Amino acid sequence: MTAASREAPGGKTAAQRKVFIKTYGCQMNVYDSTRMADALSAGGFVETADHRDADLIVLNTCHIREKAAEKVYSEIGRLRLIKEQNAAAGRQMTIAVAGCVAQAEGEEIVRRAPSVDVVIGPQSYHRIDSAVARARKGEKVVETDYAVEDKFDKLPQSSRQGIRARGVTAFLTVQEGCDKFCTFCVVPYTRGSEVSRPVSQIVAEAERLAGAGVREVTLLGQNVNAWHGEGPDGREWGLGELLFRLAKISGIARLRYVTSHPRDMDDGLIAAHRDLAELMPYLHLPVQSGSDRVLKAMNRRHTADDYLRLVDRIRHARSDIAMSGDFIVGFPGESDDDFDATMDLVRQVGYAQAYSFKYSRRPGTPGASLDGQVDENVMNERLQHLQSLLVRQQSDFSAGLVGRTIDLLIEKPGRNSGQLVGRSPWLQPVVIAETDGAIGEIIDVQITRAASNSLFAVPA
Ligand code: SAH
Ligand code: SF4
Ligand code: F3S
Repeated sequence: MTAASREAPGGKTAAQRKVFIKTYGCQMNVYDSTRMADALSAGGFVETADHRDADLIVLNTCHIREKAAEKVYSEIGRLRLIKEQNAAAGRQMTIAVAGCVAQAEGEEIVRRAPSVDVVIGPQSYHRIDSAVARARKGEKVVETDYAVEDKFDKLPQSSRQGIRARGVTAFLTVQEGCDKFCTFCVVPYTRGSEVSRPVSQIVAEAERLAGAGVREVTLLGQNVNAWHGEGPDGREWGLGELLFRLAKISGIARLRYVTSHPRDMDDGLIAAHRDLAELMPYLHLPVQSGSDRVLKAMNRRHTADDYLRLVDRIRHARSDIAMSGDFIVGFPGESDDDFDATMDLVRQVGYAQAYSFKYSRRPGTPGASLDGQVDENVMNERLQHLQSLLVRQQSDFSAGLVGRTIDLLIEKPGRNSGQLVGRSPWLQPVVIAETDGAIGEIIDVQITRAASNSLFAVPA
């Protein structure tokens, strides 16, 4: 059957339309992509894994570093060719750019890449369906206002079937935006100021997830531990209190949250780490640098010592907690001594996992105009040094688990037959063979071997 013969008069029926969504950047974008897919499915789009076959392509983009943003333009370049081929064959392909590049660059994207039909910022996703409909009639649509309405209220909920298809772990955004204004970072500009969703909305969404088989929920926010939402009692709750509430939902066995700022780790949250078994003993707490001078220039508003003392308090509350972090090397003005201070801090904390980046100068951020931009070669060298230490710490952490019995949430089939893959409490993928356990179950396993990015286990 040819494409043309499938068409109803006046074009394809809505039910036949396919959308391909490509996600860049952080977990918040992963979550947003699911919500966009849900919103588009209400308008008749089904998801496809093949972009050549799609009537609509959504690029959910990231602006955090220059490379991330530039990737989008090379992808658009490739898509343009497919779009032209499709047009020659009488098929309309719509290209939408969403996410943080959309928010940051707005109309500039359409000027630079005229094949783009829709530019839509993260605050406008509840309007994606109508934006696409307008674009398919020939309009160029740019929606980058910070919406006054609550997009979460207006976005359609995921169907039970949709949740099931995504597996037994799920993300749930509870907070968006950031008021911290670290001097290197674009997020306060791309995601706007901090907003916390109310408890009732979050609980309803978590119940829905649990009802469809989700066992582990990761709460998301650019600054998730700054979440302070309105409770059903009219009081303002903190994240610790919210975690206790969510742990009561039947079916939910594991809770996590990401990403946190050291300034917002309050006593209630530390108490949750102490008292709440469902809260996994893993904390992503970016520090960026171990030098007070650099931390100050970054506007992090804490010292290296504040951070170290905080880590001690958290470890005191929950001794088996594993720490994870983010680091930037080569922030303007960073000297060898400053970098050594970062290496020292890493040695003192001992990370189970970490992400490290070369400073990327972002237009419009205060860091971009600072003196003392660091030479690329120096940055490369520092990054290599830091990463080799972090990789060593990560493999030491994994090696330390060999021989121990741990609990595992089984998530999916493994690569080889009979294998299943799950996650440890510390977020490591664990491969297990010959188990009676099924996807969604939590079982005890004994770790037999640690490889660079995963663990191997047998039933305990
Ligand atoms: N909200 C989180 C981080 C968001 S961005 C937090 O406050 O920690 C994720 C990470 O990207 C940051 O932690 C930082 O390490 C890195 N990053 C952000 N802007 C950057 C830049 N301009 N150059 C290099 N890395 C950057
Ligand atoms: Fe960016 Fe800093 Fe906000 Fe994190 S806390 S999102 S690094 S401005
Ligand atoms: Fe990137 Fe935006 Fe997330 S800039 S890291 S996608 S908040």
